[in-house]
Amino acid sequence: MAKFLVQNSGPLNGEVYISGSKNAVLPILAASILAEDGCVIDDVPALRDVQVMKGILNSLGAEIDDSREGMLEIRFPDILTNEADYELVGKMRASFLVMGPLLTKTGRAKVHIPGGCSIGARPIDLHLKGFKALGAKVIEKDSYVEAIAPAGGLKGAGIYLDFPSVGATENIMIAASMASGTTYIENAAEEPEIVDLANFLNKMGARIKGAGTDNIKIEGVRTMHPCEHCVIPDRIEAGTFMLAGAITRGELLIHNIVPDHIRPITAKLRECGVMVEMGDEGMYVIADRRPLTSTNIKTLPYPGFPTDIQSPFMAFLTTVKGSSSVIETVFENRFMHVAELNRMGANIRTEGNRALIPGDTDLEGAQVIATDLRAGAAMVLAGLVARGTTEISEIYHIERGYEKFVDKCKGIGATILRIDDQED
Ligand code: EPZ
Repeated sequence: MAKFLVQNSGPLNGEVYISGSKNAVLPILAASILAEDGCVIDDVPALRDVQVMKGILNSLGAEIDDSREGMLEIRFPDILTNEADYELVGKMRASFLVMGPLLTKTGRAKVHIPGGCSIGARPIDLHLKGFKALGAKVIEKDSYVEAIAPAGGLKGAGIYLDFPSVGATENIMIAASMASGTTYIENAAEEPEIVDLANFLNKMGARIKGAGTDNIKIEGVRTMHPCEHCVIPDRIEAGTFMLAGAITRGELLIHNIVPDHIRPITAKLRECGVMVEMGDEGMYVIADRRPLTSTNIKTLPYPGFPTDIQSPFMAFLTTVKGSSSVIETVFENRFMHVAELNRMGANIRTEGNRALIPGDTDLEGAQVIATDLRAGAAMVLAGLVARGTTEISEIYHIERGYEKFVDKCKGIGATILRIDDQED
């Protein structure tokens, strides 16, 4: 399997451009099922996960023109099938987001239940709770879930989410957009990606209000029309590169950032003594002016500290003066990177969902594994400051979610090499 070789690279300096958001474009691609004619989606990042979603849409009947870089034109002349099989869904959990659009557009959807992954069981009970509330009959059988709308179609309802699940909010919002009547999603997820999806749906003719708050109102419409939409920048990629500047004590100018979307990351980096300032051209991250000190992190649903930045931030905390704690409240098993960082000498202890990170650590290069997408990025950050060389395997995780990652790292001075393997 392919690997990254990362050398101690000294302070990273220069400019980096953030791509369109993976976690915004995936639900938007799923929602494009609702419009017959050609939706045009711009700032689409070139990621494996986007390729998987395109494959799923093709299997459902989409005609996709991807001849222009970073842009997709998607037409659904007709829906060939409303079933998404294991082969497709098994590659990426977010594939489950086609369930809501297929159900509301065709009256039926049958999708393989997405498995868990290294960070948690990743249940779908809240998605199914929403579909049932909208009147669908939901059958879970042989690792598939099938939802069938009543004869008159889905009907609006009040739905309370026991947890502000991003995916459940997205799936239900899409399904409700063409239900008859009004739907309220209470305790909804408030992530920027929810707002971007709502904006896309409203451009197609939906009537959604309150996205970005914990209460979303959706008045169902009968038809949707094509639209053009530019995906928001990827706040998690932005946070990752902010941390690349911080951990190496460099100076970066990061383009294509929405400051509001990264407020918790900015606040925490400032607490550690990193200078983070929004200028006309982008976000300046300056970390070479003074000794950096520890802080404590607790991940929460947006607008709290993002769980997807937990592992890269933990890598950074191994290098600051003083000890820090990290509490992970969103996923039940998102400390898999701790063992990998400890292989590099981090000496992190975990107690339940709390990790205790001693600071002032001189990390040693080692052979480590990318245990999930964001943990993989954390290992690259650690490799940038560790003594010697760090060899990172299972890097397909990283390439699922970071566009042109090696090029962007090299562009700001990182010494990183991708080693292909024959079998890769
Ligand atoms: C989205 O996953 C993101 N993925 C994740 O990013 C992100 O970590 C997560 O939201 C939280 O912000 C995409 O958008 C494609 P959730 P999602 O449903 O929708 C529980 C990355 O690295 N839950 O908000 O799957 C669940 O177990 C990825 O880019 C239920 O209990 O996240 C978890 O503990 C990783 N029942 C919590 O909610 C449900 O029906 C958060 O999950 C659904 C979720």
